[in-house]
Amino acid sequence: MEQKRNGFGTRIGFELAAAGSAVGLGNLWGFPYKASANGGAAYLFVYLACIFLVGAIAMLAEFYIGRRSKANPVSAYKAISPNWGWIGLLAVVVPALIMCYYYVLGGYTVKYALNSFVGNAGRFERFAGNVGDVILHTVVFALVALAIVTAGVRHGIEKSAKLLLPTMLVILIVISSFSLLLGAGVQEGLAYYLKPDFSKLTGSGILSAMGQAFFSLSLGCGAMITYGSYSGKQVNLARSTAVVCILDGVLTFMVGLAVFPALFHYAAVSGSGLSELGMGGTGLMFITLPMVFEDMGAGGQILSLLYFTMAAIAATTSVISILEVVTQFIIQRHKVDRTRAVSVVTLVCVALSIPVGLSLGLSLNGSSELQIFGKNLLELLDSVTNTLLMPLCALLACIAVGWKLPKSERFTGFSGVMLRFITPALIVVIGLFGALDIVFPAAEGARAFSSDGFAVVVIACIIVLLCVLAYRIFLRDRDTGSNADEAEANALRKEKLSAGLQRGWQRPE
Ligand code: PHE
Repeated sequence: MEQKRNGFGTRIGFELAAAGSAVGLGNLWGFPYKASANGGAAYLFVYLACIFLVGAIAMLAEFYIGRRSKANPVSAYKAISPNWGWIGLLAVVVPALIMCYYYVLGGYTVKYALNSFVGNAGRFERFAGNVGDVILHTVVFALVALAIVTAGVRHGIEKSAKLLLPTMLVILIVISSFSLLLGAGVQEGLAYYLKPDFSKLTGSGILSAMGQAFFSLSLGCGAMITYGSYSGKQVNLARSTAVVCILDGVLTFMVGLAVFPALFHYAAVSGSGLSELGMGGTGLMFITLPMVFEDMGAGGQILSLLYFTMAAIAATTSVISILEVVTQFIIQRHKVDRTRAVSVVTLVCVALSIPVGLSLGLSLNGSSELQIFGKNLLELLDSVTNTLLMPLCALLACIAVGWKLPKSERFTGFSGVMLRFITPALIVVIGLFGALDIVFPAAEGARAFSSDGFAVVVIACIIVLLCVLAYRIFLRDRDTGSNADEAEANALRKEKLSAGLQRGWQRPE
């Protein structure tokens, strides 16, 4: 019988897909503004250290959980212990929540790429407030992801990663070379980005770098478990983890090389102060950079097209990894085919992303309508997932592999010590400080209790509780499937098809 495999066809395909998941808007949008807000070079160093010392270990653990079970996250955790399956369910719910705002941001990148020649400067509020336009671009972005995931792991995700990641790298090389050749201001920009001044780094800066590293490596949301489950025997997980982390680190580093010299150049030639540029805020990518590009004339339009096309590509290769987590679970739990599963997931998440886009647009235009607990829906989802639930999932993955697996399967040596003690401890610190920041936000130097922030933490706890309950009631004692289900269904379909064809051929005789 033909070997049933429906995973990645090659090692490099697996690594590029995982790196594609890692490199996303976190690198292009989050990293530059967080680095600006936290002292530039010092932040970069802490970020890279977190990627290689902490993130890599957690990534290896997640890959391993997937690989050993060759199944969706629920079955994967169930295989560790029947009482642990709820963690897998949480690792399916978190990506579904992330998708609802990632679609919106992806839609923004599509809009900005398409508009490069018309001019993006000053467009932010206008676009954000135009509901129809936001929905249209969100849907376009979601349809691209749908098409890729429908084609399957090998023919969709792997093939697209092999094409898109190198394309992104080439674009980034072109943009950063251009940026480095701008002349005035470049030296200052480079010094800011590469000469660390650790006195500028605060405790919250370090925490922000750690959180950023986790988000950027797509940890704590099932993505690496799912991709790991599709990795073949030929893949050495430790080696692949190193490749993914290096690619993520290098690309992030290059984003800084593209952005900082250009910003300092703009400041030098336009005479505006750096503080006026809003470098340390979320508007860096969608407000400040378009202004910088516009100032460069025709060359700037091409740069803008390249930058936002790269952002749209990065967002696409990331969103397909979270779409695949939920799709894989639906296929295996409900024994439905891929097309049906991915269509339902897309439909539901796009529908949910509409109020998110609306709420973001309203709040960007100064209205507090459609806000919950003082946050627009994007901020709310981001806090619940990124700050609270993702560290929790990543922590549980480390504990599962470090402490729960049979001794024969445990990691030994340096990675064993990191996995059992250091990485979980650091994740707990990130999670606790993240929660503290939400419940007691710093206002004018002092921290004060925020009931809205407290409500956000309560929401996260409720989601965890619901996962535990839903798992116990609906999943614990039922078959939750494995990758073999889809492979079998595919083989069956092929058999039927060829039998049908043969009958068709025979009929004329
Ligand atoms: N790593 C992606 C980024 O940097 C975001 C992401 C998080 C993707 C979780 C998948 C899962 O933007």
